[in-house]
Amino acid sequence: MSVKVTACAPSNIAFIKYWGARDLSRALPVNPSLSMTLRTSYARTTAAEIDGKSDVIELAAPDGTLTRAPDGFAARAGRHLEHLREWTGRRAALRIATINSFPSDAGLASSAAGFCALAFAASHALGHTPSAAELSRLARLSGSGSAARSAMGGFVLWPSTDDDESPAVAVAPPDHWPLENVIAVVDTEAKKVSSRDGHRRAATSPHFETRLANLPDRLARVQRAIQERDLATLGPLIEEEAIELHLIAMSSSPAIFYWTPATLAVLDRVRSLRETGLQAYATMDAGPNVHVLCEADDAERVAAALEAVPGTERVLRDGMGTGPVLVDRHLF
Ligand code: DP6
Repeated sequence: MSVKVTACAPSNIAFIKYWGARDLSRALPVNPSLSMTLRTSYARTTAAEIDGKSDVIELAAPDGTLTRAPDGFAARAGRHLEHLREWTGRRAALRIATINSFPSDAGLASSAAGFCALAFAASHALGHTPSAAELSRLARLSGSGSAARSAMGGFVLWPSTDDDESPAVAVAPPDHWPLENVIAVVDTEAKKVSSRDGHRRAATSPHFETRLANLPDRLARVQRAIQERDLATLGPLIEEEAIELHLIAMSSSPAIFYWTPATLAVLDRVRSLRETGLQAYATMDAGPNVHVLCEADDAERVAAALEAVPGTERVLRDGMGTGPVLVDRHLF
């Protein structure tokens, strides 16, 4: 009987963003990025070898129902499985089922968690246990670069090199600074322009070179602020970084607008929270939803404030996570 393996792999939120690729086919970034691994936003994926030649890729619903994955997703997952078969040297077809703990394609980096969980579960099902560095590389080969940072917990740096290995590295463990991430979901629709197209267009922005020139200093200051657990320094840096990502997107050709009026309303609320003395700072990925970072003691107040913003559909509570794990809650 084939081994059935289920992996949970977390999403992550970048403080310094991957935006623009030096080689999109290998998901190698122009610039280093740095993220915090999340705890409650994760993908759960079950993998098992099956007889036959074709992989079977399914999506699980919260009630446990399984349906065939849409063609586009199944094809991408199938290509990812080819990398894993190559790495493990075992040519077997797999049955895969996956579910996210959070809305897919809502700017919450569902692909990072999903492809990392797939890499972890499938390589185990094929008889191999990847190290964190190997998992990082395998997850990245899915084409979702940010998946490289989901392979470990805590604060994670993904350097920019031309090296095919290019794994992410943990720069501080989860218990170094258990920050909270309160997410204002203002739109759960799939984003209209993929990150992939965003990476492709980034260099067309007249501001891209300036961004690249700004980044080394910003990254160094972000790393120092993390080391010193200094939110008053870290916060403005991550807001500046998120706004710059969107500035590049908006000034790319063709332009990409991810924000909605509700995004701006949430950003405005975060600024007014700070005027009351609360340390809360916002960041956004390639989508309209806003991640608000704060200390654990302030998360309740931040969540209540974000819930009251007109246009917020729901508020998700997340925080520092410890990285991928194997579980026995199988999906089939
Ligand atoms: C804005 O190419 O990793 O989230 O596959 O959609 O997760 P997905 O995108 P990917 O680019 C990530 C872009 C970003 C910034 C970041 O997470 O670094």
